[in-house]
Amino acid sequence: MDFDLVVRGGSLPDGTIADIGINGETIAAIAPALSGTAGREIDASGNLVAPPFVDPHFHMDATLSYGIPRINASGTLLEGIALWGELKPLLTHEAVRDRALAYCDWAVSMGLLAIRSHVDVCDDRLLAVEALLDVKKTVAPYIDLQLVAFPQDGLYRSPTAHQNTLRALDMGVDVVGGIPHFERTMEDGRRSVTELCEVAAKRGLMVDLHCDETDDPLSRHIEQLAYETQRLGLRGRAAGSHLTSMHSMDNYYVSKLLPLIAEAGVSAIPNPLINIMLQGRHDSFPKRRGLTRVKEMQALGIRVGWGQDCVLDPWYSLGTADMLDVAFMGLHVAQMSSPADMARCFDMVTNVNAAIMGLDHLGLAVGKRASLVVLDAGNPIEALRLRAERICVIARGKVVAERTRQDTRLSIAGRPASVNRRHSAHTQAR
Ligand code: FE2
Repeated sequence: MDFDLVVRGGSLPDGTIADIGINGETIAAIAPALSGTAGREIDASGNLVAPPFVDPHFHMDATLSYGIPRINASGTLLEGIALWGELKPLLTHEAVRDRALAYCDWAVSMGLLAIRSHVDVCDDRLLAVEALLDVKKTVAPYIDLQLVAFPQDGLYRSPTAHQNTLRALDMGVDVVGGIPHFERTMEDGRRSVTELCEVAAKRGLMVDLHCDETDDPLSRHIEQLAYETQRLGLRGRAAGSHLTSMHSMDNYYVSKLLPLIAEAGVSAIPNPLINIMLQGRHDSFPKRRGLTRVKEMQALGIRVGWGQDCVLDPWYSLGTADMLDVAFMGLHVAQMSSPADMARCFDMVTNVNAAIMGLDHLGLAVGKRASLVVLDAGNPIEALRLRAERICVIARGKVVAERTRQDTRLSIAGRPASVNRRHSAHTQAR
């Protein structure tokens, strides 16, 4: 047998038609017409074969909790945080784990095989940290789950957040998180950026801060994040999530700021579904969109991905684990309508997001991990337009999801045989 698995005749994102030969967990060959025998062949002719979708910003401790104990009436970020505060004491290890695993099933069915999830550490029990570390182990055969220690209530504003952040990192959480715009003062926010970047540098970790997720044009913590990234040598390991205040900043100031972000090598992770939903809530008209300056950052070589942030939780009442939905919304709000920009949006939710997370083993190339998605579309732009069905998902050389009419059958040891992404949240919450 020459290959364990061959995916025949698919269109790669660059338009090349090729066969992909897989041995074990690795892509062994990519060529127009591979000869030799295979344990199994998948006919992908006429379909797009792409690297897996990657989500660099999510909250898996809160997902699928919509309506518990109530819904977010104002729709604002701040009520969402308050509502999460009401839900936190009600959380159990089992409930967090089960909701996260259910979400991971959705993710697999959508070809979403790598997720960076923030996990709130402002609960002295750290039960969500423990639960998500369990989930990380369970899903490791098919999802790269990267966890971020996230002091949701403020590193200084919450009395035990500082020690809990370090405890979570000691327990095995991968990335340092923070929320400078939620500290009591701008100065506390600035200090939190410095301190968290120093923790990341000392421990050799990545840092990803919720940064300037506000409509306040004077929220400028990204400036400090760029400064600390440059000072501490964190190039390529630091990310600013959201950066929505940049939408409203003075243009002259931005003309100075963006080159500093580029120089430092800070990545940007806007979350278009959530940004367009939460920002501008205090505006009358004209109402701000709130999404950060995506094309302008890309023009300067800043790495910009698209994150999902939330699915059915205190902040967002919809979502299906579909990174094509995320890119579709981002494309509209950032007005990335040229063919090159649309194709770039697809690249953002696959290759660029993987690069932000430091997942060098992902990608369609010989020697990379054999994780890929066959989509019912001819090319990346069509995949976006259709939010195309995922016909087949392969993780580490194994077929983990196949589309059969309404449901997707899973082949994961110990998990259900099929998954259906319908959810009763809105019925429960009425
Ligand atoms: Fe977030």
